[in-house]
Amino acid sequence: MRIAVIGCGYLGAVHAASMASLGHEVVGVDVDEAKIGALRQGRAPFFEPGLPELLASVDEGLLTWTTDPSQVAGAKVHFVCVGTPQMRGEFRADLRYVEESIEQITPHLAPGDVVVGKSTVPVGTAERLAADLEPTGAALVWNPEFLREGFAVSDTLHPDRIVYGLPTDNGVPTAAGEAAAAVLDEVYAAPLGEGSPKVVTDYATAQLVKVAANSFLATKISFINAMAELCEATGADVTALADAIGHDVRIGRQFLNAGLGFGGGCLPKDIRAFMARAGELGVFDALRFLQEVDAVNMRRRVRMVDLAREVCDGSIVGRRVTVLGLAFKPHSDDIRDSPALSVAAQMQLQGAYVTVTDPQAADNARVKWPDLRFADTPEEAAEGADVILLATEWPQYRDLDPTALGQVVAHRRILDGRNILDPIVWRSAGWTYRALGRP
Ligand code: UGA
Repeated sequence: MRIAVIGCGYLGAVHAASMASLGHEVVGVDVDEAKIGALRQGRAPFFEPGLPELLASVDEGLLTWTTDPSQVAGAKVHFVCVGTPQMRGEFRADLRYVEESIEQITPHLAPGDVVVGKSTVPVGTAERLAADLEPTGAALVWNPEFLREGFAVSDTLHPDRIVYGLPTDNGVPTAAGEAAAAVLDEVYAAPLGEGSPKVVTDYATAQLVKVAANSFLATKISFINAMAELCEATGADVTALADAIGHDVRIGRQFLNAGLGFGGGCLPKDIRAFMARAGELGVFDALRFLQEVDAVNMRRRVRMVDLAREVCDGSIVGRRVTVLGLAFKPHSDDIRDSPALSVAAQMQLQGAYVTVTDPQAADNARVKWPDLRFADTPEEAAEGADVILLATEWPQYRDLDPTALGQVVAHRRILDGRNILDPIVWRSAGWTYRALGRP
């Protein structure tokens, strides 16, 4: 199958390479020359485990990269994988890149071609785009993506579900919709053959599935962080609480890790765009709780700075603070709305001398916050520290030796922003250990 992938970010680059690895002939298109330049040389333009190996494994000739949108001509399937960031100063999603992509591919579409929307969009967008595409004779399928950064390659090749939102007439897929679904079945023959469940539905449901899933995950995280606030008020331990409730299979232990809360390019902006859309639809009350989910999440960052102040005897002004981790989560170099970077920057603004480190995200963070001091290793970052804050749960931070680290710091104070360290081990090595939601 000849496939075009428009947008080569965390989603599109991985999708293009994955589709080529399944034997399809793929062209990836992006406006960013540097990104395309790297991909052309077989290099991943960002850190994503497994992507370099995937790029190297693809048969020569099956995968090409270009900044020229006319190169999509001849493709049967066009995946739209561009970003939908939060609009500046508003909760709404900025759809300009989606709209531009559709405009760019439109002159090259032929009847029977399939345009596949993967970007996260407000419900109602697919219906509008389908109407725009109608004169071309191409069909639109809404096929949301559920990949997690850090696991993007395996999530793309082995998805836990595949959703098709098809054009419908009176609730029944149209003939064009059925034909488009058959084409997508061919594209996804490998994962479908492995047993990935397929859900076939209408446009509105498919678009809602994506934001509903991310809202549920965000709610789950804020739920446990709200419990952490209760734990702090009562002397209880949120990690034991999460373990205990997580044994109930109806609840489940995943996404119940309390700490600095969620960030990244998806969860925060998706719940906000969802609230904005609900408001436009006149059903804001249905999503009012997401305001609280957002508020609980942002409070975690404030609480972390307060905790630093508390252990530094009431002030962080002029104190040396070390922040371990800058990425919004481990196994990623993504700093979009990163709780770690947000807390580091906040402490710097409040007068602390902040030294930061991260195995992958330092270069991205340096561009955004050049005033922070950057160190290559945790040991170097911790030199002379009055307090250390673990902000992103990279495995190498979990394994730090408290005795060795204790030799380089000025004061043995550690704040575990992700609840991954063993308090007993750190306390017995002479450290003051504090965490969010733990005694
Ligand atoms: C999220 C969803 O998990 C994917 O299914 C979805 O496809 C993607 O957004 C998207 O919309 O594109 P991702 O942003 O890669 O994926 O990150 P997650 O693994 O969901 O983590 C989000 C944030 O929640 C991170 O900052 C993480 O540290 C935090 N988190 C996660 C917690 O604070 N506690 C937890 O228990 C789990």
